Amino acid sequence: MIARFLVLTFLSLICRSASAEDDPDYLAMIDGDGKDFAYLLCSDCHAMQHVLQKRYSRRGWRDAIKRMTDDFGMAELEADEHALIIEYLTQHYSPGSGR
Ligand code: HEC
Repeated sequence: MIARFLVLTFLSLICRSASAEDDPDYLAMIDGDGKDFAYLLCSDCHAMQHVLQKRYSRRGWRDAIKRMTDDFGMAELEADEHALIIEYLTQHYSPGSGR
């Protein structure tokens, strides 16, 4: 619970600084629902490029996120947050998405 609060506080600080708009990593992301959330969450530990060069199926992205929480200490996501991230990644960065 406390960890979750800290993460949210941290995320809102990044939001307010509006630095995302200047970050080439953010600019390179495909637009769509969940983009901002994915950027804030996933670029905390590594460049987005490191994530988005992958092409995973829905199942693959689900497994990848599980690796982040189980192995690397990423905070557990709420069900709706999890769904939003999976949807964004699967729709734009899967083997069939053509990019
Ligand atoms: C708490 C830190 C942390 C957060 C937050 C995080 N990751 Fe990671 N991630 C890592 C570490 C550590 C590695 C392994 C080292 C590396 O590959 O650079 C990694 C590697 C990866 C990889 C490449 C290796 C693999 O397993 O396929 C992908 C893809 C990935 N992360 C996706 C994500 C996504 C998607 C998110 C956001 C939902 C995310 N990460 C958020 C720590 C994190």
